[in-house]
Amino acid sequence: MEELKITTSDKTPAYQELVPQIQSLVFGEPSLVANLANTAAALRQAFGFFWVGFYLVENNELVLGPFQGTVACTRIAKGKGVCGAAWQNADTIIVPNVDEFQGHIACSSLSKSEIVVPIIVNNTVVGVLDVDSDRLNEFDERDAHGLETIVQILIPSFQ
Ligand code: SME
Repeated sequence: MEELKITTSDKTPAYQELVPQIQSLVFGEPSLVANLANTAAALRQAFGFFWVGFYLVENNELVLGPFQGTVACTRIAKGKGVCGAAWQNADTIIVPNVDEFQGHIACSSLSKSEIVVPIIVNNTVVGVLDVDSDRLNEFDERDAHGLETIVQILIPSFQ
């Protein structure tokens, strides 16, 4: 693919346009790092999110993986922050206002709302996709659905 093409700012159709483009970016590419890196870039480019990236489970900790945005916390323990909670619960978490989420880990004071989607392979969380916005209430079910679909595309890269 030469260039990402998103023709709308409406979230549902934007995710619908993005999904096949991420599929073609990762199709046939066995490198996990390459696929996570391109997915983070595609999401940031498509939606202009403040921060998009992956944390991967390593020795029972989340460790920073490929991302787009400002420098971020490197390690997150299970149950800590939004990422650690999504890992522990093995479920997507939408945080409309990070200041109201107990235990939120502030990597940047500019981050106002957040969504974290766990990556589950063989019933085990192997990492999370974390997206931060500099606006309150950025994320809803459309993002949860779109990002969960994108995470599904990445599962074979982990196997
Ligand atoms: N806010 C996250 C930490 C990761 S950064 O936002 C990139 C959390 O509470 O888990």
